[in-house]
Amino acid sequence: MVLNRNDLCWCGSGLKYKTCHLGFDEKLISLKRKGHIVPTGKLIKTKKQIEGIRESAKINNGVLDLISDNIKEGMTTQEIDDLVYNYTVSNGGTPATLNYDGFPKSVCTSINSEVCHGIPSKDVVLKRGDIINVDATTMLNGYYSDASRMFMIGEVNEEAEELVNTSKECLEVGIQEVKPWGFLGDIGAAIQEYAQSKGYSVVRDFGGHGIGLDIHEEPFVYHFGKRGTDMILVPGMVFTIEPMINAGSHEVFIDEDDGWTAFTKDGSLSAQWEHTVLVTEDGVEIISR
Ligand code: MF3
Ligand code: CO
Ligand code: CO
Repeated sequence: MVLNRNDLCWCGSGLKYKTCHLGFDEKLISLKRKGHIVPTGKLIKTKKQIEGIRESAKINNGVLDLISDNIKEGMTTQEIDDLVYNYTVSNGGTPATLNYDGFPKSVCTSINSEVCHGIPSKDVVLKRGDIINVDATTMLNGYYSDASRMFMIGEVNEEAEELVNTSKECLEVGIQEVKPWGFLGDIGAAIQEYAQSKGYSVVRDFGGHGIGLDIHEEPFVYHFGKRGTDMILVPGMVFTIEPMINAGSHEVFIDEDDGWTAFTKDGSLSAQWEHTVLVTEDGVEIISR
């Protein structure tokens, strides 16, 4: 689609293209000519789409707050799933993981050495000392949002608590790298540097992802790597950052029976926090809170 200078801008601002995103589009074209990776148009969200994603994230946050208020020793992960399903649906949303690619539940619940994509079950009971990631993804009116938090069940040992705290800091240092016209690779580099400085490793087989009009969009967001590499970050991009941090080696394997649950290969603990973020004109906005 080629816009003329006096056409209305594609972003929905109601302004003429020449006084709105013309300079922005020219900047992208010039960066691309210089050999940089730039986002395709679909990855740059309009005002209306961002509003939709925000509304979706309100439900997603409500889900995680509800879990936060109710999670406790003796509860099954199926009960967590029931809370997520009922809250989401009664607020007009849909749990986006339900039937996604065959995933059978409304939320992912990953305990201790489970890295991600744990499947809620009536047979899994939370015990004192467990650490658990609850990862919720909501669809509302076609707009997607995604976030996860760690919970500690009763008293947990110091090693587990430190991993939970450090993995949260890994998300924070990643978010701090998000700025317009910065590099996607800076996010992964910062997370890797921080995790390794604490003696932990970063999972490589899973990453964050663009999100908004679909549950998983481009780009793939690495949680390790080199500064000054990968896609240029541009205002209007929406993606997740969701570092999975292992106490031991970074290697993982997938449960053969359920086809989903990822475990650490060495049986060490793993922890993860996730936010959906928006690149703004002057920095970053955490949409999922
Ligand atoms: N919320 C997960 C993520 O962060 C989605 C996992 S897809 C599932 O990307 F099918 F495993 F649920
Ligand atoms: Co998620
Ligand atoms: Co995600």
